[in-house]
Amino acid sequence: MNAAASPSLSVDIQAPQWVRHERLKAWVAEIASLTQPDRIEWCDGSQEEYDRLCDQMVKAGTLRRLNPQKRPNSYLAWSDPSDVARVEDRTFICSQRKEDAGPTNNWTDPAEMRQTLAGLFAGCMRGRTLYVIPFSMGPLGSPIAQIGVELSDSPYVVTNMRIMTRMGRKVYDVLGADGEFVPCVHSVGAPLKPGQQDVAWPCNQTKYIVHYPETREIWSFGSGYGGNALLGKKCLALRIASSMGREEGWLAEHMLILGVTSPEGKKMHVAAAFPSACGKTNFAMMIPPAALPGWKVTTIGDDIAWIKPNAQGRLYAINPEAGYFGVAPGTNEKTNYNCMASLRENVIFTNVALTDDGDVWWEGMGPAPDHCIDWQGKDWTPDSGRKAAHPNARFTVAADQNPAIDPEWDNPAGVAIDAFIFGGRRSDTVPLVTQARNWVEGVYMAATMGSETTAAAVGQQGVVRRDPFAMLPFCGYNMSDYFQHWLELGRKLKQAGAVQPAIFCVNWFQTDEQGRFIWPGFGENMRVLKWMLERIQGGADGEENLFGISPQYQDITWDGLDFTAEQFQVITRIDPEAWNKELQLHTELFEKLQQGLPAELVQVQNRLRQQLEA
Ligand code: GTP
Ligand code: SPV
Ligand code: MN
Repeated sequence: MNAAASPSLSVDIQAPQWVRHERLKAWVAEIASLTQPDRIEWCDGSQEEYDRLCDQMVKAGTLRRLNPQKRPNSYLAWSDPSDVARVEDRTFICSQRKEDAGPTNNWTDPAEMRQTLAGLFAGCMRGRTLYVIPFSMGPLGSPIAQIGVELSDSPYVVTNMRIMTRMGRKVYDVLGADGEFVPCVHSVGAPLKPGQQDVAWPCNQTKYIVHYPETREIWSFGSGYGGNALLGKKCLALRIASSMGREEGWLAEHMLILGVTSPEGKKMHVAAAFPSACGKTNFAMMIPPAALPGWKVTTIGDDIAWIKPNAQGRLYAINPEAGYFGVAPGTNEKTNYNCMASLRENVIFTNVALTDDGDVWWEGMGPAPDHCIDWQGKDWTPDSGRKAAHPNARFTVAADQNPAIDPEWDNPAGVAIDAFIFGGRRSDTVPLVTQARNWVEGVYMAATMGSETTAAAVGQQGVVRRDPFAMLPFCGYNMSDYFQHWLELGRKLKQAGAVQPAIFCVNWFQTDEQGRFIWPGFGENMRVLKWMLERIQGGADGEENLFGISPQYQDITWDGLDFTAEQFQVITRIDPEAWNKELQLHTELFEKLQQGLPAELVQVQNRLRQQLEA
């Protein structure tokens, strides 16, 4: 710390005796001297600490305690209306060289960014408590886990991190006196003057979500919401971890992981990448339809997968998280029964509506109440013409509350991946399901995936953008290098003598003229998953088309579902005109990613164009 940025430190920086890591203590002192908090609290992750912070936030107006009869031990937070989602245009990858961040990331020279942040963070925690939050992404002590320490002035962040990660004192036992950790600094950016009354959701109009991939550091300023503030999730487990994975030969992906057991008792594992708010949580917790007896789906993860090859060329995946930060709107007993069952108690809800009996409600949960208080604290009735819950309203809940949790979800060795699925939200053009004929075609499909944007990020909604591998907002390095990394990994698996996982592309979201979804989705997605698994095992037919292999109507099991061959035709048809336009968009993406773009992908594209023209 230079003297100018370090006014004298009046706060007690004494760490508890169970913190033995001198470098960590020195770093906390350094950040405290920069940010000038009134107090430092070393979080131990205990229930007592969680309850105390929740009580404190109830008194401060940040949380409302829900009716303990309806929703035991649960709380509701309403954020500032300006702080409701990730801020992609304020997210930065500050590598030494701009080319290493690539054309899809915001980049600023790290020295310049450090200077900007030093200014913003100077004194930014005045009047607040600096919480020291030690956490592990992945099972504690596992060789694949990564430890992070987040310094935050938000008690909401502390309580959410306790649910979303393995957080607390036990992390120090793993860290010991000199273990490695990723330093994460977070401030809501709202210092208090002496005597100044706090607001319920402090934040700052100026926001910066900054990553230094080379030195593995994270700095976040101005937001208290979700992925902007819970730094273990997108910042560490995706942006920093993807860059670690590139160096070390593994993958950090925006993927759910599920186990699926057939009626014969054969268990397989699937990892699926869908962009934000496009159905990962739903797919990971899916209950197969009763008309497909004997099929069972179990959840390993709902948002992030870390995937490593073993010596035999098999890919093993773990979920680095310990909880779900999931989209509330649209979730109900029919669309996601297991999710609703997970939410019965011990939940933090953010930006849903408060009912008159002290419970929660959101659009798509069930019949609307005659009256409630909306996420902005205003009276709401069904005819008020506004949404009661924010479209990106979320719940935070521990993974072990999920009745469909997989017995292996916590296994540090992970589960062996048999297939990858990629899928965007497309109201037209992209068929229900296609299997890539080989790894390179699969990488092409994933790389050129498009999806309509959702409320999960601030900005315009519903416009199609390219979202390669559902990683556009989360890749910590150059996207072309990321494609290359996937291609190299595929080769490595083959060289090791393994069967590469099959790669599929899906789209649940085609709509009719009235804008209604044609495919019933949710649990019925099991029918498509069943076809995929039978394909892998050589038991299901499919028809080869331009892009790969797709089922014909008779290749899907339709028992118990009224879905006609005509409807199927609509959502599986490849319309040459639409695909000409689509390929043009692929070309635009590739032009943008020109530098370092693997030649193999350009070859696939040329082949597709020739076939389409023929
Ligand atoms: P992030 O947490 O933002 O990464 O998103 P996610 O991919 O986990 O999204 P989630 O499963 O929470 O789904 C978001 C929205 O998609 C919800 O409103 C769901 O109701 C809706 N959804 C999920 N699966 C389906 C489906 O199969 N069909 C249709 N039509 N909608 C779906
Ligand atoms: C996403 O946007 O993909 C999320 C939610 O999973 S957040 O953690 O806020 O990024
Ligand atoms: Mn996500």
